[in-house]
Amino acid sequence: MVDFSRVTTQPQVRVTFPKITFSLTMVKQPDDLNLDTCRFLSPRNHTLILVVACSRGSFLVRALATDVLKFMIFIMLCLKSTTPDRWLQQAQDHLDELLIDHAHCEKKAAGTAMNLLFAYVENEALCRAMKDIVHEELEHFQLVLDLLQKREIRFRRLRPTDYGQQLNALVSKQEPARAIDRLLVASLIEARSCERFRLLRDHLPDHELAHFYGSLFESEARHHSTYVQLAKMFGTEDDVECRLDELAHAEAALIATGHSLPRMHS
Ligand SMILES: [Fe+2]
Ligand SMILES: [Fe+2]
Repeated sequence: MVDFSRVTTQPQVRVTFPKITFSLTMVKQPDDLNLDTCRFLSPRNHTLILVVACSRGSFLVRALATDVLKFMIFIMLCLKSTTPDRWLQQAQDHLDELLIDHAHCEKKAAGTAMNLLFAYVENEALCRAMKDIVHEELEHFQLVLDLLQKREIRFRRLRPTDYGQQLNALVSKQEPARAIDRLLVASLIEARSCERFRLLRDHLPDHELAHFYGSLFESEARHHSTYVQLAKMFGTEDDVECRLDELAHAEAALIATGHSLPRMHS
C-alpha cells in the first residue's frame, strides 16, 4: 500500500480551480481540488496513475504519491517551471534577508491590489476583490513584521531584483489588454510566491518558519486564482488563457536566469 501519511499531513489545503477536471470517473469535476481527491486514486506499486485534463491540455501522470500534490499545484498555478534547487539553498543560507524581502513583497502585493482598485474603480466586482486582497496582504505584512521583531531582525530597505519590473514591462499600453496583462502579471507573481512558500514549508528545518509559510500558502494560491478570474472580465476566456501562457513563459525565463541576491523571487 502507498503511504499517504506525508500527503495527508496537509489537510488544510483547499484551492478552487474550476478549470481543472479529472477524467477519472471517481473524481467528477471537483470544485475543490483537495487531498481527499488524491485518496480516491488507485495506488499501484507506490505510484499513482492519473489523467489530469485542464485548459492547458491533458496530462498522463505517473507519480510517486508524495509528488502528486506538487504536480497538481504546479499545473493549477499555471507556472511553466518549477523553482530550481539553487534557490532553496540561497534562501536557506540567507533566511534573515529573505524574511525582510518577504515583508516587502507583502507590502508590494497590497500596493498592486490598491493600484488596480484605483485604475478600474468602475468595476465593482474587481473593487470588492481588490479590497479583500489589500486587507489580506497587509495582514500578511504585519505577520512578517512581527516575525522579524521576534527574531530581532531590523526591517530595512533592500535592493530589489528586476523580476517585477521585467514582468510589468510586458504589460500592454492599450485597454482592455492592459487590464488583462496587469491582472495576469499579478496572478503569476502570486503563483510563484505560492510555489515557493510550499517549498519553504516542506524544506526549512526551522519549524516555526516552515509552519509560518504553510499558513500563508493557501491565500496566495487563492489570490492567483482571483486575478485570473478577474482578467476574464476584460477579454474572452481563450484570449486570457493564451496571454497567461505567454506571460507564464516569460516569467519562467526570468526564474531560470535567477539572481545573485537572495530574494523571494530571485
Ligand atoms: Fe500575501
Ligand atoms: Fe497574495
